[in-house]
Amino acid sequence: MVPGIDFAGTVLESSDDRFSVGQHVVLTGWGVGETHWGGMSEKSRVNADWLVPLPSQLSSEQSMKIGTAGLTAMLCVQALQDAGIKPEDGEILVTGASGGVGSVAITLLSQLGYQAVAVSGRVEENQQWLTSIGASRVIAREELNQPARPLEKQLWAGAIDTTGSTMLAKVLSQIHYGGAVAACGLACGFDLPTTVMPFILRNVSLLGVDSVYAPIEKRQRAWDQISKLLPESFYQQSCKQVSLDEVPQAAVDIVDGKVSGRLVVKI
Ligand SMILES: NC(=O)c1ccc[n+]([C@@H]2O[C@H](COP(=O)([O-])OP(=O)(O)OC[C@H]3O[C@@H](n4cnc5c(N)ncnc54)[C@H](OP(=O)(O)O)[C@@H]3O)[C@@H](O)[C@H]2O)c1
Repeated sequence: MVPGIDFAGTVLESSDDRFSVGQHVVLTGWGVGETHWGGMSEKSRVNADWLVPLPSQLSSEQSMKIGTAGLTAMLCVQALQDAGIKPEDGEILVTGASGGVGSVAITLLSQLGYQAVAVSGRVEENQQWLTSIGASRVIAREELNQPARPLEKQLWAGAIDTTGSTMLAKVLSQIHYGGAVAACGLACGFDLPTTVMPFILRNVSLLGVDSVYAPIEKRQRAWDQISKLLPESFYQQSCKQVSLDEVPQAAVDIVDGKVSGRLVVKI
């Protein structure tokens, strides 16, 4: 099995009319690197339905600095926008802020004029960086990973949650009346110890976000918006490059919480 859940590259050969030799493309999800051979290889042969033409503003390298995590962050932001959450409604909480999804979500929200509040287990280490990429403030994970009362003080107009479990339950209990949470991850756990109270008494919406099997129109909309929104500084401040040989150690470092932002594998 070749791992690698996403890749970017140039078409060498195509039996599908939608793609031509020399075209730049990007692929995320569809089980690539999970149930099909993945992106950590010099050449790949994939179903044309899975490819997205690279937006003209982006280089292949930039698209991988965005990657699955960045695309997922954009889908979460779009889910909140589609739910009608506006910058003037109040602060948006982003959990798992130092991670790939969280850090891109903060940058995107801030570019769109939202006040993005970062939740991190590494406040001391990452406060400066999180602020530099657009967080209006940073709060400690300990404030959120406590058991929640069914309803707590209404603090957030919306949230992007990458953690699930106790943290998501706490976030739900603190969302404004009519607010929404886009949930995409399980860094804290896959359970959800909550009650129906936020939904039935505060009209809160819980919006599930999946990037792996997202339909092509949704992907294209997300790639288009993200390619226009991310500032040049994002690619310099939040992304590092590793070689293929460095991948096993990098994977351990990610799980051990030693990595912030995005790692791009140079094949
Ligand atoms: N639905 C989808 O399509 C989709 C797509 C991509 C990713 N995901 C999921 O989204 C989540 C985030 O992905 P990612 O690529 O951003 O991962 P990541 O780079 O590993 O970041 C996860 C972040 O969560 C925080 N964290 C780690 N352990 C935690 C814990 N026990 N409790 C609370 N927070 C914790 C850390 O940030 P701090 O140190 O700042 O707290 C960490 O950097 C993962 O669960 C991933 O599987 C889902």
